[in-house]
Amino acid sequence: MRGMGRGDIPPYRFKNMSEWGEAYTRLSLNENFISPPDRVIKAGYRAVNSINRYPEIDGYSLRKKISSHLGLTSDMVFLSGGSILLIYTLLYAFADSTGEVIGPKVSFAAYPPAVMASGARYMVFDNEGTWGMDVEAILQLVNEKTQVILLCSPNNPTGAIMTRNELIKLLSNIPSDVIVVLDEAYYEYVENENYHYDSHKLIATYPNLVILRTFSKAYSLAGARIGYGIAVPKIWEIAGNFQPIYILNRVALAMAYEVYGDKKHLDKVRKLTRKGREYLIEHLARLGFEIAGKPEANFLMVKPTCGKDASTLRKELRENKILVNETSMYGIPGWLRITVGAEKENEYLIETLAKLCAL
Ligand SMILES: Cc1ncc(COP(=O)(O)O)c(C=O)c1O
Repeated sequence: MRGMGRGDIPPYRFKNMSEWGEAYTRLSLNENFISPPDRVIKAGYRAVNSINRYPEIDGYSLRKKISSHLGLTSDMVFLSGGSILLIYTLLYAFADSTGEVIGPKVSFAAYPPAVMASGARYMVFDNEGTWGMDVEAILQLVNEKTQVILLCSPNNPTGAIMTRNELIKLLSNIPSDVIVVLDEAYYEYVENENYHYDSHKLIATYPNLVILRTFSKAYSLAGARIGYGIAVPKIWEIAGNFQPIYILNRVALAMAYEVYGDKKHLDKVRKLTRKGREYLIEHLARLGFEIAGKPEANFLMVKPTCGKDASTLRKELRENKILVNETSMYGIPGWLRITVGAEKENEYLIETLAKLCAL
């Protein structure tokens, strides 16, 4: 597969978006429709009272809380302003114009620009139809130029997971100096016994593994911009130099500290998201939509079969004040990516699609 290099950086495209208003039913950004608990919001307000003061420089309190919960040392946890920023930081640190980064063809749209900004060539493996992380296809691309492998599980936009066995198979068949970045943005949503829930423990055996998790999804803090990475301390000693100091903010740190490990909140999020996902799957199937694979997070990738193509439906949904994503930006046109919303939002989507598809 052809690689892409720095000269291929596409023009910056997330500007002047007119769709951020509250008037829209926003099912386009894989946000959590459930707000954080009141306690967490109050922690944010309390932090504002000291906003004239810089935050804890490396978020030590939160790092300590996360690492003790996971049975790791605090120097294995690194905080950042969301996992996207962490992806850029890691790529700046471990990839450059002499090397290659491997990643999935159908996956999170932030990866290609981040790789290209690092100067490395982006070598994509085909996951069209399998929708997950195809270990054989990845291994075929690994060579002496490979610097980083990007994995996404559950994968955005398809919702497919990589299994623990697949992850171990990959890690045990690549050179130990290749950094494997496993993006687990939707980790807390997964309810599948084959998932790599203990990926952070695998670091002891595979010190080239870097796990990315975020507070933006199941923890309901997308607007706060905070996420974290887990890896051996050596990785953060290097990558830490590529992230400006004081990137973390006081409000995000306080809210993340308060919500981290909140089982009650996570159980509620999982339960209501599962219910919404099952509702959407049932009704989209009834309306003739093809559903890609087995979605394990808070979104679905679906293909219309009612005679209207995905971009037409997306446009018509927008005219009805509903925002969903069309998948061209993920490497395959023709599908819609729909975030699970609140009950009324899901119902409104299905009613509208039934009308648009004239059923
Ligand atoms: C796979 C994946 N990684 C990371 C992110 C963004 O995470 P953050 O908000 O922590 O930057 C998203 C957001 O949609 C995502 O889908």
